[in-house]
Amino acid sequence: MRRPIVVGNWKMHGSRADNARLIEELGAQYPPDPAADCVVCPPFVYLQEVGRMLRDTPIHLGAQDVCADNQGAFTGEVSAAMLKDVGCEYAIVGHSERRLLYRESDQLVARKFAAAHSKALIPILCVGEQLSDREAGRTAEVVQRQLDVVLELCGAETLGHGAVAYEPVWAIGTGRNASPEQAQEVHALIRARIGVRDARIAAATRILYGGSVKASNAAELFAMPDVDGGLIGGASLKADEFLAILAAAG
Ligand code: 13P
Repeated sequence: MRRPIVVGNWKMHGSRADNARLIEELGAQYPPDPAADCVVCPPFVYLQEVGRMLRDTPIHLGAQDVCADNQGAFTGEVSAAMLKDVGCEYAIVGHSERRLLYRESDQLVARKFAAAHSKALIPILCVGEQLSDREAGRTAEVVQRQLDVVLELCGAETLGHGAVAYEPVWAIGTGRNASPEQAQEVHALIRARIGVRDARIAAATRILYGGSVKASNAAELFAMPDVDGGLIGGASLKADEFLAILAAAG
């Protein structure tokens, strides 16, 4: 049985005051016995402070990215050990914004996944096709390639210690979510691809959907058999929306 998980990716939003308000609102309304895991991923500079605010809540802390290297002369980078040191439990790797805007390759993303896992962070691997890929019928090819590079470098066992998030690029921040059927099709494909290597791990790996998830569409997406929760951008910045999404996952 896969426990659902809802992850809020705050991206480059917030301030100390905004964060405090959001965490306070989440904490005040948070269900006492949630049926889904909940993670928030603030920008690096706010991690420690948000972590402190989350201390008496069941909400977990995650980072939006991690360096592929462990330490050294890497100006501007943050290592997995540092994230662990300030209380992170999760790290997103390979978000499409990093792949596209900062030219992160599949290989670099796979190294980030390995680095996070090596320091006992739970990596969340983002995969997903662009609109042009989908229109050209290349969705499966793109998603499998992104997944295979991680499976090759890290192996199925390590992948199974993390999670996968399917985020079609055309659905991110556009208000146009994948239909539940479109999401299910790709999630099933991801699970099957992991299953080629190890059926037990494939059955246990959590696969999240991300891309314009809102309170109004979360339940139908999460009702699909291979959708185990969501990676939420914009809606994770509004406490009532995020809590409603969390409730839909449980
Ligand atoms: P939106 O929910 O704003 O579409 O963003 C999705 C996303 O990129 C989460 O990582």
